[in-house]
Amino acid sequence: MELITAVKGFKDILPEETGRWQYVEDQARRIFTAFGCREIRVPVLEKTDLFTRGIGEATDIVEKEMYTFRDRGDECLTLRPEATASIIRAYLEHHLHATDPIAKLYTIGPMFRRERPQKGRYRQFHQIDVEILGHEDPRIDAEVILMLLHFLQSVGMESPHLEVNSLGCPACRPAYRTSVQSFLAGKEADLCDDCRRRLGTNPLRVFDCKIEACREIITKAPSITDFLCEECKDHFAQVLSSLAIFDIAYTVNPRMVRGLDYYTRTAFEITTEFLGAQNAVAGGGRYDGLIRDLGGPDIPGIGFAIGFERLLALTADTSAPPPSRLPDLFIAALGVSAEQFAYRLCNNLRLRGRKVEMDYQSRGLKSQMKRADKLKCRRVLIIGDREIEAQQAEMRDMVTGEQVRVSLGDSFAWIDMLV
Ligand code: HAM
Repeated sequence: MELITAVKGFKDILPEETGRWQYVEDQARRIFTAFGCREIRVPVLEKTDLFTRGIGEATDIVEKEMYTFRDRGDECLTLRPEATASIIRAYLEHHLHATDPIAKLYTIGPMFRRERPQKGRYRQFHQIDVEILGHEDPRIDAEVILMLLHFLQSVGMESPHLEVNSLGCPACRPAYRTSVQSFLAGKEADLCDDCRRRLGTNPLRVFDCKIEACREIITKAPSITDFLCEECKDHFAQVLSSLAIFDIAYTVNPRMVRGLDYYTRTAFEITTEFLGAQNAVAGGGRYDGLIRDLGGPDIPGIGFAIGFERLLALTADTSAPPPSRLPDLFIAALGVSAEQFAYRLCNNLRLRGRKVEMDYQSRGLKSQMKRADKLKCRRVLIIGDREIEAQQAEMRDMVTGEQVRVSLGDSFAWIDMLV
């Protein structure tokens, strides 16, 4: 019969890979906790409106990439393409802000975007996402970036490059938007269909376009830096001076606008030369109007998301997570009562936290030793029916070949040999 394979762009994470996933997750939890973050878990499915309103209608994600469908109750639902909007929905829905507007949250999980799959770009991918709600202070922006870089380095990422920009606020961005619009007017013919269509609705998206002709045009566009209001200029200057406190190197990239519409003021990306076309391993920024736009009070926010698969691709050679634990013991049982004894012992040892394996095929000693070898067990306890009667067994050290007689009596003193 024909095999059913996984959906295109959806990847299995196999047992030999999960050790590294767990290692990276553990590091994230440890570091984010030190910075006061707590975990939140939100559903992968949301009402479509959450993302159209949150991310912005005229964005690639909303226009082209969302997995949106009507369920059997005719409700329009979307598999989350990112976590920020969902986390804010949960923050508002559960009135977390009522007891304390400051919430430092993180989540780790799958996101879904129907992009063209290629190396480093999947349709189901995973993000490590952090959102800090309730703080406007520019020192927080630098702190978030510090935490992100510290985490990336802790898992072995080499030479992350930080790009920062300020995207202004509702007071100063409209003038910039108009100036980009006028700059692009008359150049429509040279723009791609998407950019031409978005000229009227969302001209800043041209900065994100990957098409060479559009990129060439937009590099000559006016720079947002010249349009920032005094408050935004001052906020950005303080972000940069706070980064300097921690000797964090950065490049100000006035053309980095990020692909989602909710950003205000600080935006940042971590890029690397090792990722090819998909060069961003993480991205984020401030979104001081998003909570209000999603129906909540006027509470500022800032956050980032790291692409898990991209991070793992970058750290494959540099980070060495602890190898998955090898079994402490293999029990080779020969004979019916020995097998019964082994079955009970094996599971009782597991209940005491030991990693123990046995064979369930009643095979000869040679086959069982082979299996123990394959599983890389350090020791093998060899038990036959006669040994059961005598309450004794042989314990073999698979590395030294040394074999000792141990008691199967009540004390199980030999358990301490298992390290
Ligand atoms: P984003 O830039 O769309 O931001 O995604 C963040 C990261 O997710 C990217 O830098 C990349 O590493 C990874 N990523 C995105 N799409 C794919 C894909 N198709 N395959 C593999 N990896 C991918 C956000 O999602 C914002 N929610 C970040 C944020 C949080 N801003 C504020 N808070």
